[in-house]
Amino acid sequence: MSKILVTGGAGFIGSNFVRMLLLGSDHEVVNVDALTYAGNLENLTDVERHQRYAFVRGDIADPVAMDAAFAEHRPEIVVHFAAESHVDRSVLDATAFVRTNVQGTQVLLDKSRIYGVRRFVHVSTDEVYGSLGPWGYFTEETPIQPNSPYSASKAGSDLLVRAAVHTHHMDCVITRCSNNYGPYQFPEKLIPLMIANALEGKPLPVYGDGRNVRDWIYVTDHCEGIRMAMEHGKAGEVYNFGGDAERENLFVVKEILKLVGKGEDLIRYVKDRPGHDRRYAMDSSKARATLGWTPRHTFEAGLQRTIEWYVQNRPWWERVRSGAYQDYYAQQYGRR
Ligand code: NAD
Ligand code: TYD
Repeated sequence: MSKILVTGGAGFIGSNFVRMLLLGSDHEVVNVDALTYAGNLENLTDVERHQRYAFVRGDIADPVAMDAAFAEHRPEIVVHFAAESHVDRSVLDATAFVRTNVQGTQVLLDKSRIYGVRRFVHVSTDEVYGSLGPWGYFTEETPIQPNSPYSASKAGSDLLVRAAVHTHHMDCVITRCSNNYGPYQFPEKLIPLMIANALEGKPLPVYGDGRNVRDWIYVTDHCEGIRMAMEHGKAGEVYNFGGDAERENLFVVKEILKLVGKGEDLIRYVKDRPGHDRRYAMDSSKARATLGWTPRHTFEAGLQRTIEWYVQNRPWWERVRSGAYQDYYAQQYGRR
């Protein structure tokens, strides 16, 4: 049993990871999250009273707050999810992306070194590799060529982690994963936005020609990969994870409409995102060979399951859309 400090555990992937650890291991979990617009403690209502769980509201870019959290909880392992994560927001204003993703990562590396953390897992993204043409895959050797302020800030954080390994001999691993989907994803990202809009009979905005390709992975498959990298990864190594499920956006949107039982007349072609990456596709053979990892969900099964979840948990996303979810912290913890 280890004490694991998870950052960003109130977000989409982080909350799925916290649940996996609490229900599927005997580790203790300390969730450090600033509760930005993307942080939602309602993602964790089923496990929030678990005896091996603690929540700390804190900003990873605040060295004083992080010092207090590390001093109090003395984690052995850090798994770092906290980030500004939405490309469209980074196009509008990159300030928070640089602060959280770059500065915040350095603060965590510093505190982890000072407090003797034995393993630091940095959760990164395939987007640091840039964009592919119609052929080929990203491997761990692909040069870093980020194109959006989001991916550039994630690439910056990856390089700081690499430097911590080389300069301070820290035991860090970096994971890079393709586009996730599944329960508790904030409905600003493609799949949950399209599901929620389709369920409400609202228009589905497709950027550009809708032919951009993403490699979709079900969120718990990603979480299993992170756990395997945490347990068996080699210090200083990078591990790619992908879903082996390349799909054009338009295909994804039409599948959602079909499964929700709505017509394609809801599709609206809108102005393209500036600098829109055309295609991402992951070669995960290193993770398969060295960690024994493999994704369990096909895209079809994962999408079906995800739609069922959004149908059954309509109050969850309605409270996100209305903003009501932001009152939950004050109600539970008596603070704003
Ligand atoms: P998310 O936006 O759903 O959640 C981010 C979480 O981080 C939120 O709970 C938020 O409150 C918290 N946070 C933000 N700024 C913070 C700060 N300064 N201090 C403390 N907490 C802060 O993100 P996600 O989709 O769950 O992604 C998690 C991680 O996985 C990110 O690092 C992202 O780059 C990476 N990733 C995401 C995907 C994807 O498809 N979503 C794919 C590959 C990698
Ligand atoms: P997104 O979920 O924002 O993830 P990322 O940009 O990090 O890959 O977008 C996935 C794809 O869907 C991307 O090609 C942009 C496109 N997209 C739309 O066409 N319409 C939308 O409303 C959104 C949010 C995304």
